[in-house]
This record gives sequence, structure tokens and C-alpha cells, in this order.
Amino acid sequence: PTIYVITPTYARLVQKAELTRLLHTFLHVPQLHWVVVEDSPSPTQLVRNFLAVSGLTYTHLHMLTPKDRKLQEGDPHWLKPRGAEQRNEGLRWLREKAAAAGGKGLGFESAVIYFADDDNTYSLQLFEEMRYTKKVSVWPVGLVGAMKFERPVVENGKVVRFHTGWRPNRPFPIDMAGFAVSLNLVLANPEAWFDGNAEMGFLESSFLQNMVTMEELEPKADMCTKVLVWHTRTEKPKMKREEALIKQGLGSDPNVEV
Ligand code: UGA
Ligand code: MN
Repeated sequence: PTIYVITPTYARLVQKAELTRLLHTFLHVPQLHWVVVEDSPSPTQLVRNFLAVSGLTYTHLHMLTPKDRKLQEGDPHWLKPRGAEQRNEGLRWLREKAAAAGGKGLGFESAVIYFADDDNTYSLQLFEEMRYTKKVSVWPVGLVGAMKFERPVVENGKVVRFHTGWRPNRPFPIDMAGFAVSLNLVLANPEAWFDGNAEMGFLESSFLQNMVTMEELEPKADMCTKVLVWHTRTEKPKMKREEALIKQGLGSDPNVEV
């Protein structure tokens, strides 16, 4: 089965570095189709050129987050959901493509969707775990929720609750990196989208809650005992020297892409 990996991304100093790290993981994964969705009013040259020479099968989309839904400078990073409209654009594209194919061909019957943020760290094993997802598969996520890891707790092969430090009674207290869904399930639930206005911590639930129950979740990674993905976050680079040099007319050559 093909894995459609949907990645929201936005322009910032570390963007190309993040995308390069991701690409070099994905290049090792068989049958992966990368759906890159830029948070921008139009596709950017940087991402277009990057993908053109990537060597990966990809689709390049864009969807600007409306201003009232976007974090403003100085807002705490958790105030509004990030990447919601971009993931929805990826879902829209997949549904449209499936409809055009009449549900047949293109390996759509068994395809899997994974939402991979551009800053996390993914092991190759993770993709083999998710590849045979019937409805929704789940696994632990490392370094998230101010804990060493969060995970579904499995008893007798079934998910019975979630190991999390915060609001465990959310419908699905799992990070975006901790689940994959089958394309079939998404096609059977045309109303399933991410709610860009969801309360903090409820973005994943907004998408999953009407599609699947906890009992139906398929535990992967040795019954959710292995961490195969890490919710890493990249430090914002300091530009103090750069700004000082710019004032002297000695800033780094703007024609060099970083
Ligand atoms: C956590 C979760 O891991 C995310 O999946 C979830 O979307 C987010 O919380 C949330 O609650 O909205 P976090 O590391 O805080 O993630 O979020 P980011 O990594 O900053 O953003 C998630 C994705 O959205 C990234 O791929 C990022 O490139 C993208 N993004 C971020 C945009 O497309 N536009 C933005 O303005 C900001
Ligand atoms: Mn992140």
C-alpha cells in the first residue's frame, strides 16, 4: 500500500533544513507519496525547486491560514492550532483524486494517510508499522506533552486508555504524529476534517472522533511499547550578528538560499 504523507510547512529560516531532514528520511521509504502543503498564498520558489530535485514522488499544494486563525508575533505557540487548513487541503486533494479515479486503480483501495509535521523526527520502522492500517493505527510519540512519551495503553491487544499527563478524557489524547488513517476510512467519512478553531489539544480529536472508536484503534509498534517518532522542535536561530552586519551594509548575500 502507498503511504500518503501530508506535511504542512511555512516559510522561516529553518524551513529548508527541516524539509531536507524529512526528505532524507522519506527517500528511504518505499511507496511513499509526499503531499507538501505550504502555508502561503501561492507556491514558493524555494519549496518548488526543492521538490523538483528531491527524487521523491510528491504533490505540491498551498493553503494560506486565514489571518484570524494564525498565530501572531508574541502569541504563545499553543494559542491556535497550526497546520489545520494545510492538512485539510491535503485531504481535499486526496478525496478529489480518489473521486476522479472512481475509487479504483492508483492503489487507493489500501492507501494510508499520515500527517507528518516538518519538524519531527521519524524512524524508518514507523512507516512499515503504519503501512497495513485498516482504519486507524496508533503508537507512542516521544518527547511530547511535557513527558518522555505519550502512548495508548494496550490490554489484550486493545487500546483501553491513554498514557498522557494532560486532559486524558479528551476523545483522542494523541499527538498528530501518533496515528495513521486508511484512505478508505477518510473516503467513507466525507465530513471528517481538522477543526482550525479547535481548543488547545483537541485538533486530533476533531478529525478522529466521528470516524473511529477507541476500541477500534489498531495498536502498532509492539503493542505501543516502542517509540518510533519524536516530537522534536527546532530552536529559532539567532540573527543578532546578521542584523548588525546588515546595518553596516555587510549582510549575508541575499541571493544565497538558506
Ligand atoms: C503540536 C502537534 O505536534 C501538531 O501536529 C499540532 O498541529 C500542533 O501542536 C497544534 O496544536 O496545532 P507543534 O510542534 O507545537 O505541534 O507545532 P508546529 O510544529 O509548530 O506546527 C505543526 C505543523 O504546522 C508544522 O508542520 C508546521 O510547519 C506547520 N505550520 C506551523 C504551518 O503550516 N503554519 C504555521 O503558521 C505554523
Ligand atoms: Mn512541531
